[in-house]
Amino acid sequence: MSLFSTPFDPARDTALVTGAGKGIGRAIAQALIGEGVRTVFADVNAERVRAAISASSKPELAVPWVGDLARLEACDELLVAAHAALGEVSHFVHSASPPRREADHALAVDRKTWQEMHAVNLDAGFHLAREIAKRLIAAKQPGSFLFLTSLHAGTPRNLPHYSTAKAAMAMLVKELAKSFGRHGIRVNALVPGAIAAGGFVADASLAKHIPLGRLGAADDLAPMALTVLSNNLSAYVTGAAFVIDGGLSLTNWFEAPVLDA
Ligand SMILES: NC(=O)c1ccc[n+]([C@@H]2O[C@H](COP(=O)([O-])OP(=O)(O)OC[C@H]3O[C@@H](n4cnc5c(N)ncnc54)[C@H](O)[C@@H]3O)[C@@H](O)[C@H]2O)c1
Repeated sequence: MSLFSTPFDPARDTALVTGAGKGIGRAIAQALIGEGVRTVFADVNAERVRAAISASSKPELAVPWVGDLARLEACDELLVAAHAALGEVSHFVHSASPPRREADHALAVDRKTWQEMHAVNLDAGFHLAREIAKRLIAAKQPGSFLFLTSLHAGTPRNLPHYSTAKAAMAMLVKELAKSFGRHGIRVNALVPGAIAAGGFVADASLAKHIPLGRLGAADDLAPMALTVLSNNLSAYVTGAAFVIDGGLSLTNWFEAPVLDA
């Protein structure tokens, strides 16, 4: 039998994807739908959710949810809606993140922007993952969670609210992976490089620093996301961080050497 023929069990697997209206979250949610997995598309923007679902291959498998995940009460409302629609949530993807504005440097970023960035990335991610896990553990069911972190969990981005939120998320992945592992719940990080997906307005000249020679696209992330999420393909993988950056993090800004054949 082909190794890749059954990454998911549509009769049992279900998913909740935050930030599913745009960019990487949208690509992952649509790819899960493509594998027959019933999926909640959660986002703060109603029009984006509607468009993401209608552009997916089987819209009938999608459950829309709209709300602001910076609010803890909204996270609870999302949990109620997701569990009502799906039963247990076996696969959780946390991709929602507020816009990153270059003007929000260390001397400029205001308190509200700082708090919102941490609330959505870290607080919502922790709360949703913990509550989903509690139910899976009680039901003795396996799960797989994926957090979208960043290369800037480890290197500055000139946006201190963003890099510190991502650094905390990277540790949250390790904490949860260690705590939930014995209960069959795997927790991993996907670490995108420069992905021209919506949230990152890339200068095309950045491509010269990328060994694979181009900026990434949201669809470059989805296959790896599904591979790591799949309990059939990645059963022994937890607490790991998968860098998908075309080699950007190898360059440290020196040009690659010209290699004579
Ligand atoms: N694009 C990149 O180059 C890149 C690089 C590193 C990390 N990442 C991370 O990957 C993830 C996805 O990035 P992207 O560029 O595709 O993002 P994006 O900005 O295109 O999409 C983010 C989505 O989150 C939603 N969102 C924002 N605030 C929300 C809130 N309060 N409640 C609910 N939903 C909210 C937005 O409406 C949007 O649809 C993010 O966590 C981002 O930090 C992206």
